[in-house]
Amino acid sequence: MAIQQERYSVGGVLMPQPFKIRRLGHFGFNVTKMEECVTFYKDLLGFKVSDILNFGAMPGMDEKLKGVPDTRGFFFRHNGDHHTFVLFNTGVTDTIMPPYGGEGDVTINQITWQTGSLAEVVNGSHYFREREVPIMRVGRDMPGSNWHVYVYDPDGHINELYYGIEQVGWNALSKPTEMYYRGFREEPGLPQMSEQAELEEAIRDGIDVNSGYRYAETLPPEYEVEGVMLPRPFKITRIGPVNLFVKNVEESVAYYTDSLGFRITEEVTYEGQRVVFLRNGTEHHSLGLFPKVLRESLGMSSHTTCHSFGVEVGSYQQLRNAVSFLEERGVTFKDIPHELHPGIDYAAYATDPEGHCIQLYYYMEQIGWDGKPKPRELRRPTGVEAWPESLEPMSDTYADQTFQGPLG
Ligand SMILES: [Fe+2]
Repeated sequence: MAIQQERYSVGGVLMPQPFKIRRLGHFGFNVTKMEECVTFYKDLLGFKVSDILNFGAMPGMDEKLKGVPDTRGFFFRHNGDHHTFVLFNTGVTDTIMPPYGGEGDVTINQITWQTGSLAEVVNGSHYFREREVPIMRVGRDMPGSNWHVYVYDPDGHINELYYGIEQVGWNALSKPTEMYYRGFREEPGLPQMSEQAELEEAIRDGIDVNSGYRYAETLPPEYEVEGVMLPRPFKITRIGPVNLFVKNVEESVAYYTDSLGFRITEEVTYEGQRVVFLRNGTEHHSLGLFPKVLRESLGMSSHTTCHSFGVEVGSYQQLRNAVSFLEERGVTFKDIPHELHPGIDYAAYATDPEGHCIQLYYYMEQIGWDGKPKPRELRRPTGVEAWPESLEPMSDTYADQTFQGPLG
């Protein structure tokens, strides 16, 4: 007899989980060389600072963090989301958000997925509790204003599901700290007031809503990027995929499919090992699960479970420009076999000051209604030495390039 799986209404559609992940929202690293890392991610890659949070100055934290020399955490964005990338100090995170279990090599601060509503987040937290998926916390963090539940994966990585991240607009202003009183350290009761209502309330209460952090660019706009002058010859237009080294691929695949609702797109066998690529939407993959045994044979840093954090740039030309720009500034690259990035034709793997790998690319294969990836023999052959100057289009070239704002 077939077991009837419980289903949940997500906005009137019956789903296996009471939420549906829509996209990767943000990602972060815990680092020890904060200054170098800020320079790398801000000046070289072009993430803009949206807020700096001094954890040591938070109530009750000064005593706990008194041995930590730098207690600041940096929030960055590449689009209108308040943050799409964060850097926190390892000394701070070891104290206030340590990994759950794991083998002491989790340097990923969080892997954060957007859901469609506040109800999805709250119902998701109940679902995780019932299924005994370890929950770190539920609430709403400031800065960023996103309502969330944090859960751990089998290796101790923190996955966050959120709704409603603050949008930073044309004037680059983040919310002022005076509005942080709408943060929650516990599960919020439903329903909640809208963000528009929060804004009206803040204005009524005399808060200067235009007094938040504003990023100011300090580098000269020396490069033309397809018609616009920018401080670097490329623009990050999307984040992800996140590629992880895990101790047990089967266990992790079960977690990300059964508990978080990911779908498997494609599997690769490399050196006899199973590597699995998963998605939430039309992207070929937003998550790759690699067995830890490949970490050494691929020459990746043993200090981290992060194989790579992907950043998509706006075009093939920008990808080529990015590689030259970073190389000229002393950034080193790793050679990763092309069969380990199925669905991405050209990719380059830059190394950050801590040894984390950043996967730069411009194209990702799109998956349609039938859920099938393109047959491998129809893909662009990219295992060649030199990248050509120009390319022929494919059926889905630039299909995922839907960056909404101005480039800078
Ligand atoms: Fe987050």
